Amino acid sequence: MAFPASFIDELIARNPIEDVVGQYVELKRSGSNLFGLCPFHGEKTASFSVAPDKQIYYCFGCHKGGGALNFIMEIESLSYPDAVRHLARKSGMDVPEDESYRSQYKQQERLWALSKDAARYFRQQLTGPAGRQALEYIVSRGLSRQTVTQFGLGFAPDGWSGLLDAMLAKGYRREELLDAGLAIRSEQKGSVYDRFRNRLMFPIIDIRGNVIGFGGRVMDDSKPKYLNSPETLIFNKRKNLFAMNIAKKSKLECIILTEGYMDAIALHQYGFDCAVASLGTALTPEHANLLSKYTKQVVLIYDADEAGQNATRRAVPILEKAGLQVKILRLQGAKDPDEFLKKFGADRFKLLLERSENHAEYRLQNLTRKYDLTLDEQRVEFLKEAAQMISTLPNAIEREIYGARAAKAAGTTPEALKIEVDKAYRRRVSRENRAKERIALSPAVREQPAVRSIHYNNLRSAMAEEGLLRMLLREPTLFDKVSPLTAEQFSAPLLGKAFSLLQSRHFDGLQVSLAGLGEEFSPEELGHLTQVAQKRDELISDEAFADYRRIILNEAAKARLQSGEDLLALRDRLKQQKGYGG
Ligand code: CTP
Ligand code: MN
Repeated sequence: MAFPASFIDELIARNPIEDVVGQYVELKRSGSNLFGLCPFHGEKTASFSVAPDKQIYYCFGCHKGGGALNFIMEIESLSYPDAVRHLARKSGMDVPEDESYRSQYKQQERLWALSKDAARYFRQQLTGPAGRQALEYIVSRGLSRQTVTQFGLGFAPDGWSGLLDAMLAKGYRREELLDAGLAIRSEQKGSVYDRFRNRLMFPIIDIRGNVIGFGGRVMDDSKPKYLNSPETLIFNKRKNLFAMNIAKKSKLECIILTEGYMDAIALHQYGFDCAVASLGTALTPEHANLLSKYTKQVVLIYDADEAGQNATRRAVPILEKAGLQVKILRLQGAKDPDEFLKKFGADRFKLLLERSENHAEYRLQNLTRKYDLTLDEQRVEFLKEAAQMISTLPNAIEREIYGARAAKAAGTTPEALKIEVDKAYRRRVSRENRAKERIALSPAVREQPAVRSIHYNNLRSAMAEEGLLRMLLREPTLFDKVSPLTAEQFSAPLLGKAFSLLQSRHFDGLQVSLAGLGEEFSPEELGHLTQVAQKRDELISDEAFADYRRIILNEAAKARLQSGEDLLALRDRLKQQKGYGG
């Protein structure tokens, strides 16, 4: 382990989970636990819980959970060591840095500093003599001086070593420019030269304010139009969004997601300071997660072309999965938001934004386009599919509104359509109820972990393992009584691993709590373990403890016997085969 366990324990002890979470979530006490709205997924009723006695949090809605450090990792998008440093700084503790971490963190800090200095250099070039043409281009694109300053736009001069020379003079090394993606090494000659040449530069800044990469645009029609930083130690396209550092502070209710740097920038200039852009990649679940930390509602405005519409279709389920409400804004008379704002102005855009379609409307519009509604046959098909779609809307008023709209599109009465919708709705509800009953009837299914990647093969043993862990967490002195039980006898590898880690903590005189194991498990695994710890408060008695221990030992013996029998059978078969052969 990188940081000494005793240090982590001290850190956790000085940062009670209720205080750490309380900085981000309004918590209300109910019994021994605290509850609030989950910061990791959009919700209206509190399913997010904090258990001060166990020093863990757990969301019953999205199954995220862990200790204070995991909470910081999740909410601040930090790695484990950075979460440790973050909490340590807040509580005035010195971090005993492990050598390998220290060197990686140092390297990161160097690349941040270098990227910031590079941005400064590009900015200076823009206002210097070399930048005249670039400034003209900026003016021709209608960007104000204030916008240029706010986004730190710059210019990479034509030539091979402008940035390189300037940064070497500041004490950076060639290797560091290569690592930051700012320079390229030529394959034949081995020489190093600037990646960005004769381009307008857009610094990409993460939510913490670090410059992590750049986009560079040509100022004519040459190709490629944009050149972006490659993936580096500090730049990950899948996790970052352009302008998120500004949009996260917006007072507006939503976040507007666009495709292009220039679109996001134009929106800001026209007063929509909640706009962000993806970085030349398709939207990822990581992006959606990031967005869900700052808003409940995302307005998608992709380009009006087919590629943009396809990207919209793919983005919607990703955003919805992160608990976000999605609205789609369709532009007419302009290919992208930048062009729209210039042509029609901010007020027209604001109207569009207020009226922007929610997802149901979007799907209905797609349907009307899919069918030729002048033909009877196609109208019937349209109505069937529309009824099906509308029946999935959870709200009766919505079903009525969209039902009426679909009816109108197909030239039929709302009543006729309503009958179809009701039928489809009833079919669905009864199907879902049947499924629910099936699940309720089989406890085996109910007790399985919610995360599919974790599965219990021996449910009887796993339930005993869970119970035993719960008791040990509440009463660590029971570790003195577990013998002859060992981690190998656990049927669920995850529970076995938790058991053995907690056991060694106990013997090392450390806190026996999941909060100290933040680094050892994946978020899914930790989510499941915290759920196990939260399931119920195990009443502690020697008998119950002995029962659990006995069940686990028995099931393990059975499993051994089974595989042993298989071995015996195999040996017999092999013997027989040999007999035939010889
Ligand atoms: N992009 C890219 N590489 C390209 C073209 C585009 O990485 N060769 C990415 C950029 O992030 C760009 C986004 O895709 O911002 C959208 O492309 P496009 O619509 O062509 O760019 P705009 O932002 O609209 O730029 P402009 O208005 O300056 O043409
Ligand atoms: Mn554009």
